[in-house]
Amino acid sequence: MDEPGWRRFIAAYHQAHPGITEQLFALADTSPYAWLAEPLRGIEGTVLDLACGSAPTRQELPDADWVGIDLSAAELAQAARRGRGPLIRAGADALPAAAASTGAVCAAMCLPVVTPLPQVLGEIRRVLRPGGTLAALVPSQSGLSPSGMLGWLRVMAALRALRQPWPNPQARDGLPAALRTAGFRVRTDERRVFTLAIDSADAAALLANALYLPDLTPKRSQAAKRSLARWAAPGRRLELPLRRVVAELAAEPPSQEQL
Ligand SMILES: C[S@@+](CC[C@H](N)C(=O)[O-])C[C@H]1O[C@@H](n2cnc3c(N)ncnc32)[C@H](O)[C@@H]1O
Repeated sequence: MDEPGWRRFIAAYHQAHPGITEQLFALADTSPYAWLAEPLRGIEGTVLDLACGSAPTRQELPDADWVGIDLSAAELAQAARRGRGPLIRAGADALPAAAASTGAVCAAMCLPVVTPLPQVLGEIRRVLRPGGTLAALVPSQSGLSPSGMLGWLRVMAALRALRQPWPNPQARDGLPAALRTAGFRVRTDERRVFTLAIDSADAAALLANALYLPDLTPKRSQAAKRSLARWAAPGRRLELPLRRVVAELAAEPPSQEQL
């Protein structure tokens, strides 16, 4: 899918499913957002939540000078309904913030899907103050146990999907390397396997909706939800490996060859 096509897909997707990532993570054994927020507690200066969606990190950083930015009006409306803010509607590739004005950027589950990635990373670099922190949470494709792998095979087979065709696959397990190339110094790179409770038809339907599959037709989606509803059961767990990468702005900008 080309970039304009992806942008149309993601706009329509979030218009139809505002808050979907937060809802999916509510099925997790512990909060991935709390894990992401840990290195941002006590940071001096503004924390800019990039592609904040329904702004679930807001409540994890109650004392921060926090601002959420997202392109989707529906996501921002969902955040506002929950009393989270301040919020600004803007693209991650053109941030409404002055150069070197931001203490930290929080990027929850967005770097694999925001486009164009080189511009987005350039904007993060521009708005961070020297020594500023980027904390990113992304899905990981490693870390599954054999039964976890079987679980995902079951889910993807129901959806008739081989993979998630996201525009920035390098921003998943390859994120530390992508950040180094873009001029960041990677401080930590950790993986943690969360588990989602798929214990009801509702949880199964939420999972089917949450996977960002542009080729999923309404008919296939309905069939997948019926199939996954039969699989869902009390005690059913689906592993969800996530990667938390914490980086800081290197003193020197990257050379032209690195970009
Ligand atoms: C997977 S959701 C994550 C939302 C939230 N950070 C969370 O973890 O719950 C991705 C978010 O990226 C936003 N988004 C996608 N492309 C964007 C862009 N180019 N600029 C700003 N936001 C974008 C979507 O509207 C959506 O809210």
